[in-house]
Amino acid sequence: MSTPTPTPSPGQSPDVRPSASGWDRATDSEKLPAEIPDPEVVQVPQQLREEIEGHMALYPDSTSAALPALMAAQRVHGWCSPEAIEQAACVMRVTPASLAAVASFYDMLETSPVGRHAIYVCTNISCSLRGADRIYESMRDAAADEPDLNVRSFECLGACDIAPMASVDGVYVGPLEEADIPRLIDDVRAGRPVLAAKQLAHRPCADREANA
Ligand code: FES
Repeated sequence: MSTPTPTPSPGQSPDVRPSASGWDRATDSEKLPAEIPDPEVVQVPQQLREEIEGHMALYPDSTSAALPALMAAQRVHGWCSPEAIEQAACVMRVTPASLAAVASFYDMLETSPVGRHAIYVCTNISCSLRGADRIYESMRDAAADEPDLNVRSFECLGACDIAPMASVDGVYVGPLEEADIPRLIDDVRAGRPVLAAKQLAHRPCADREANA
């Protein structure tokens, strides 16, 4: 079968043709895009290796552990750096490219350096109606000189009953007032439980086991 003649793009001279070899061949979707990291070469911290292997053991197809594996690597490295992804890929026996594709899709996986403490301020409708936008702005201002804090606005975090609220390293706190912000940031800085009295986990609940 003859190779079709490519159509020049708009503005392109008709005698200029793409020259990249193989441009007209179909992609082999079965082919791995890169090498799987060599465990003899890539050093993986023992604790990270064990955690990833633990996640892999939970799934019939171990590649399903990509998300928790990346989260674990992110916790160790602060973000999904090339090194973090390579280590996770080495343990999972997949290519770094396959994990990089996952990391770039999910916004709780960071693909550039950020502060280690994730403060997600919900600015979705229930929280917004109760002043979340002001709280978000104040939180950003208060953390402006704190490189260790990653303050972001977030879509509904599923705790509208404590609106306006935030997730601080995964701990839900609310309802927030602007006056809570200095204390919240102090708690994070000091490694204390954040706004202990406003944590969702400490709210009374009909189900006694719910917060166990
Ligand atoms: S809108 Fe903020 S938790 Fe749902």
